[in-house]
Amino acid sequence: MKKGRILTGHRPTGRRHLGHLLGTLENWARLQDEYECFFLVADWHVLTSDYAHTDRLEENIYQMLCDWLAAGINPERSTMLLQSAVPEHAELSLLFSMLVTVSRLQRNPTYKEQKKELHLGERASLGLLAYPVLQAADILVYRANAVPVGEDQLPHLELSREIARRFNSLYTSVFPEPQAVLSPTPRLPGTDGRMMHTSYGNTIPLSATSEEIREKVMGTITDPQKIYLRDPGHPEICTVFAYHRALGQTDIAMLENDCRAGRIGCVACKKELAERLVQRLQPFREIRERVSREQVMSLLHEGSKRARLEAQESLRLVRQAMHMAYSHR
Ligand code: TRP
Ligand code: SF4
Repeated sequence: MKKGRILTGHRPTGRRHLGHLLGTLENWARLQDEYECFFLVADWHVLTSDYAHTDRLEENIYQMLCDWLAAGINPERSTMLLQSAVPEHAELSLLFSMLVTVSRLQRNPTYKEQKKELHLGERASLGLLAYPVLQAADILVYRANAVPVGEDQLPHLELSREIARRFNSLYTSVFPEPQAVLSPTPRLPGTDGRMMHTSYGNTIPLSATSEEIREKVMGTITDPQKIYLRDPGHPEICTVFAYHRALGQTDIAMLENDCRAGRIGCVACKKELAERLVQRLQPFREIRERVSREQVMSLLHEGSKRARLEAQESLRLVRQAMHMAYSHR
C-alpha cells in the first residue's frame, strides 16, 4: 500500500548537474517505492523569466528528461508529464488567482529575489507574480499529499496549503493540504565553493565526459590551508569532502581522519573522487546513445495523457464545488 501521492518537478532548463542528482533526483527515485509519483516538466514556469527565448525549450526538455531517466525515474511506475500538455493546470490556476491577494504575492520572497536579481523593477510581469499560484495548481490538480522540494521552495508550498484551505472552507473539501518532503542531503557547494549554479559554471553536468569530469574535479577548491600532503586539513570546509560524503559508500570516517591527520593529499583525494564520479555517472552518458529522442519525448506524451485524466477528474470536482459548468462535462 502506497503512503499517498507525490507531485514534484523542475523547470526544464536543460541538462541536470551533480547537485540535482545528489540533492534531488536520488531522493525522487527512492520515493517511487513509497508513493504514487507524478514528475512535472514545468515549461510554463520557464516563461516567467525566459518568455523571449522559447526556441531552446524542446531541446532543454529532452536533455532534462534523459537525466531524470538515467537517475532512476521509472516511467512504468511513475508518471512524467508536461505542464503545457495538461491545460487543466491553467484553468485551476485561474480559479485560484481569485483566492489570493496581490499583496500576499508581492510579499513572496522568491518574487522579491527574482525581481531584484533580474533588475525588473516596474517590468516584473503578472506571470512572474503569479508563479506560485500556478505551482499550487500543479500540485493540487493531482490532489497530491506530499511534495519533495528544496528549502527554497517552502514559501511556495506554504501558499499552496493556504489556497487548499481557503478553497476547502469556501466551497467543498476537495484538496488535501500538501506536506513538504525535504531531501536528506544538504545543499552542495559548487566546484568553486560558491553556491552551485549553472550560470556560475561551477557545476558538474551529469552527462559530462570522463575527461570533463576529471578536469572539473581536479579544479575544485579544497581547504586552502592544506598545501602539502602532510598538512592537516579541515574536511568540514572542503567541497571535495562534501561530494565524497554525498556520494556515500566510501569509508567517510576514515577519509575524515586521514585528512585531519595529514595522511592523504588533496591531489590523491580528488583523483579518487573523479574516478568514483566517472563510474557513478556512466548511465547519464550512455542513455543518450541507447534511447532515441522520439522514445524519450513519447514517454512524456504518454505520461501527460495519463496525468490529464486525473487532472480532469479534479476539475470536475472543482466545478461542482464552485457551481460552475459542471453539468456539461
Ligand atoms: N518552482 C519549482 C522549481 O523552480 C518547479 C515547480 C513548478 C514545482 N511546479 C512545481 C516543484 C510543483 C514542485 C511542485 O524548482
Ligand atoms: Fe579536502 Fe580531501 Fe584535501 Fe582533505 S584531503 S582537504 S578532504 S581534498
